[in-house]
Amino acid sequence: MTVLVTGGLGYIGSHTVVELLNSGYEVIVIDNLYNSYPEVEGRIKEITGKDLTFIKCDILDKAALDLVTSKREIDCCIHFAGLKAVGESVQKPLLYYENNITGTINLVNSLTENGCKKIIFSSSATVYGEENDIPYIETMKKGTCSSPYGWTKSMIEQILTDANTADPELSVVLLRYFNPIGAHPSGRIGEDPQGIPNNLMPYISQVAVGRRDHLTIFGNDYKTPDGTCRRDYIHVVDLAEGHVKAVEYAAKNKGTSIFNLGTGTPYSVLEIVNAFEKANGIEVKYEFGARRAGDLPEFWANSDKAKKELGWTAKKNLEDMCRDSWNWQKNNPNGYRED
Ligand code: NAD
Ligand code: UFG
Repeated sequence: MTVLVTGGLGYIGSHTVVELLNSGYEVIVIDNLYNSYPEVEGRIKEITGKDLTFIKCDILDKAALDLVTSKREIDCCIHFAGLKAVGESVQKPLLYYENNITGTINLVNSLTENGCKKIIFSSSATVYGEENDIPYIETMKKGTCSSPYGWTKSMIEQILTDANTADPELSVVLLRYFNPIGAHPSGRIGEDPQGIPNNLMPYISQVAVGRRDHLTIFGNDYKTPDGTCRRDYIHVVDLAEGHVKAVEYAAKNKGTSIFNLGTGTPYSVLEIVNAFEKANGIEVKYEFGARRAGDLPEFWANSDKAKKELGWTAKKNLEDMCRDSWNWQKNNPNGYRED
C-alpha cells in the first residue's frame, strides 16, 4: 500500500514517514522545502534501513501535483504541508490562507481526479477556540480561532467535510493534534525551527544548548495551579504512530471522522522547564514576562475516541519527551545546518 505524505520532510511528517516505513508501507514524500531540509530524506533512510521516494513539489502547483498523482497508484494521503507560525499568520494572513487552503484544494482535486479517496489531515486543538470547556472532546462545536493560522485549520476541516458530503466514497480523517514535542530516540530527526523558536520546547532546548540566553515564560498570573499556562504535550513518535492507525482506519471506513491526538494530561510551562532540567541534568535559565496575545490559560484532550476507534494511546511520558528533545538538540546543535 502506498501513502503520499505532503510536508513529509517537516517535523511531524518525518517522524510519521519513519513509522509508516517501519510498518511496511511504501511512502512517497512531497515537500517544497520551505521549512525543511533535503538532509531529512537520508536520515529517514538511515533510521529505517528502508527506501522512500522524495519529490520536491509545491502543493500550490497543481500541474506538478498532477504529475505525482497521475503517475503512481496512491492509496492514501497524509496531508501535513502547510505554514504553521501563529504570529506570522497574523502579519501575513493572505499568505497563510493561500498556502494552506489553496494548497489543500489543489491537493484534494489532484488526488480525487486520479483515484485516491483517502485523506488524513493535520488539524489542531486550536479549532476548539476559546468557547469550549476543557478537556476538549470531538463532539464539541468548533469555536473562534485566535489566529488566521487557526482559521485555516478550521476552514480546511470544513472543506474536507463538504467534499466528503459531495462524494460519499471519500474517507476523511481529521486529526487534531495537541502540543507535539520530543524527537526520534535516535537523535537523527527532530524539530528544527528557523530563526527564533515560537514554541516552548525548541526554545528550552536552544537555551540549554547555549543558542539563547534564557527562556521568557509568557505570563505567571493565569488561573492555573502555578500561574503558568497548561498544555497537553505529546511525544512526536506517539503522534506519528497515531497516523499509522489513521491510515488503517481510513482503509476500512468511509466518511469524515475526527480524532483528538493528545495524552489527556496537562503540564504547565514551569513543570516542563523543571522536567527538562531533571531528565537531562541541565539548567534552563528563565524569566517571567508578559502574557502572549492569543494564549489560552489551559487546554487538554479527551482522547477516548482515538483509543476506542483507532486503538491508539500515547505511550511515552514527559521524561521521554524531555530526554528525546535534548538528545536531538545536543547532537544537532544547529539542527540540520552544519555551520
Ligand atoms: P513543519 O513546518 O515542520 O512541516 C510542514 C512541511 O510542509 C515543511 O516541511 C514545509 O516545507 C512543507 N510545506 C509548507 N508549505 C508547502 C507547500 N506549499 N508545498 C509543499 N510543501 C509545503 O511543521 P510540523 O510541525 O511538522 O507540522 C505539520 C502539520 O501539522 C502542519 O500542517 C501544522 O500546521 C500541523 N500542526 C502542527 C502542530 C505543531 O505544534 N507542530 C500542531 C497542530 C497542527
Ligand atoms: N511559551 C513560553 N515561552 C516561549 C514559548 C512558549 O512561555 O518562549 C508558553 C506559551 O505561552 C504557552 C506554552 O508555552 O503557554 C506553549 O506554547 P507553544 O507555542 O509551544 O504552543 P501553543 O499551545 O501556543 O500552540 C501549539 C501549536 C499551534 C497549535 C496550538 C493548539 O504551536 O500550532 O498548539 O494546538 F495551534
